[in-house]
Amino acid sequence: MILSIIVAVSENGVIGKDNKLIWHLPADMKFFKEKTIGHFIITGRKNYESIPEKFRPLPDRTNIIITRQKNYHAAGTVIATSIPDALNFAKEFSNKEEVFIIGGAEIFNQVLPSCHRVYLTRIHEKFEGDVFFKDLPPEWKLTFSEKHSPDEKNKYPFTFETWEKK
Ligand SMILES: NC(=O)c1ccc[n+]([C@@H]2O[C@H](COP(=O)([O-])OP(=O)(O)OC[C@H]3O[C@@H](n4cnc5c(N)ncnc54)[C@H](OP(=O)(O)O)[C@@H]3O)[C@@H](O)[C@H]2O)c1
Repeated sequence: MILSIIVAVSENGVIGKDNKLIWHLPADMKFFKEKTIGHFIITGRKNYESIPEKFRPLPDRTNIIITRQKNYHAAGTVIATSIPDALNFAKEFSNKEEVFIIGGAEIFNQVLPSCHRVYLTRIHEKFEGDVFFKDLPPEWKLTFSEKHSPDEKNKYPFTFETWEKK
């Protein structure tokens, strides 16, 4: 199993505020969809609940929610009460090699040491926020980088980066 984080980060490391995404960047949403479609995705309970109800569970993906709550239920999803449980479920039942960790900050922090790849969209703008994604430690190498200018739909310049652990 290849375990990949997919995350969008501002210039100052912010990834969200008040349990919401801050920016609206359709190009990044399209990238996220293209990467994750058909795959198992693993999310923290807070990040899952931050997805507007009409868009969840994210379609055409197996949504695994991590929570410590014993009786948590969300229609059409798989519930795991620990990170190892979520990873074991994905390893056993996903027919795709790559499995995605889609956030939020608490889950990213705990799972990063077990991950192989990070798809990082860098938003070239500073934002105020309350959840962060730290710079990757030195064992991580940048293997792909593609910069995009703003356009009528995407207000901020951004770069799609892929990082791999060597
Ligand atoms: N920019 C991006 O790419 C991006 C991506 C994802 C999320 N976000 C943002 O991140 C924020 C949400 O992140 P967050 O850090 O607040 O929350 P989170 O990581 O989504 O969820 C935290 C919750 O996950 C459960 N959990 C965490 N560790 C666990 C463990 N070891 N075992 C069992 N359950 C565990 C707990 O749920 P219970 O409380 O139910 O027990 C905990 O409250 C939002 O603002 C969202 O918009 C941004």
